[in-house]
Amino acid sequence: MLGAAGRMGGLIIQNIVKNGNLQLVSAFDLTKIGADAGEVAQAGNLGVPISDINDLGTILNDTKTDVLIDFTIADATAANAPIAASCGVNLVIGTTGLNPEQQEIVKGSITENNISAVIAPNYAVGVNVFFRIIREAAKYLADNDIEIIEVHHNQKQDAPSGTALKAAEVIAEELNKTEFVYGRHGKAPRGDEIGIHAVRGGDIAGDHTVLFAGDGERIEIKHQAHTRQAFAAGAVKAAEWISSKEPGIYSIEDILGFD
Ligand SMILES: NC(=O)c1ccc[n+]([C@@H]2O[C@H](COP(=O)([O-])OP(=O)(O)OC[C@H]3O[C@@H](n4cnc5c(N)ncnc54)[C@H](O)[C@@H]3O)[C@@H](O)[C@H]2O)c1
Repeated sequence: MLGAAGRMGGLIIQNIVKNGNLQLVSAFDLTKIGADAGEVAQAGNLGVPISDINDLGTILNDTKTDVLIDFTIADATAANAPIAASCGVNLVIGTTGLNPEQQEIVKGSITENNISAVIAPNYAVGVNVFFRIIREAAKYLADNDIEIIEVHHNQKQDAPSGTALKAAEVIAEELNKTEFVYGRHGKAPRGDEIGIHAVRGGDIAGDHTVLFAGDGERIEIKHQAHTRQAFAAGAVKAAEWISSKEPGIYSIEDILGFD
């Protein structure tokens, strides 16, 4: 587990412990180094210390880690995914906010090293159904104004969320739209863009609304995560699934068996 001392890392470790088919063998972070990863995650002592990220390659090899689950920050993922890939370790990446260059580095290292990886901005099953529904709605509402509003807790580092960006990409692809506008300020007449808005506050796990606004009516399609559990369960399921897959980069849709 990379990001073992984080919010998602802790919850994922709890889910690994509950899963009879997986075993935590290594854990990494910048903080809580030397502490037991299970205790930090409030999952009981697992005899697995949180290791310094500088020892990533050595420890992945020594512990014969099969899959590395990474929920950290973009810079960390861009630096560490190539190291794990060069050790032949499969990846489940949940980190969001990677810029196009960082995404290329990560994807390139997966392909060059012939490993398997799942990369998803959102591991919740419902969100991936939500992506399907908004694509379908967009087909019929192409002439509407389309806005995406995402709401997250006040500790979230990146904006807009990876899920909001993915929702925008899904709609843009369906309707051949090319322009995204991130928030509005000052004189800002509306054009053919998809508007994307990030709201931050409290401990909200993650809400995403797509608004299709037409003449005299509107449709709002909304997904709300009550807790982070849906993301953690999905990431653990992905780790189990990826171990038997051919080299390549997979999405949640592949795991869910969507055609
Ligand atoms: N894909 C999904 O389903 C999903 C769901 C929730 C959150 N996320 C994303 O997961 C990431 C983590 O979210 P979080 O809420 O757990 O954040 P968090 O801040 O609680 O945890 C991140 C952890 O990563 C560690 N870290 C940072 N830089 C590091 C480095 N260079 N090496 C090793 N460890 C490092 C931090 O010390 C921290 O413990 C974010 O990018 C977030 O957007 C994705």
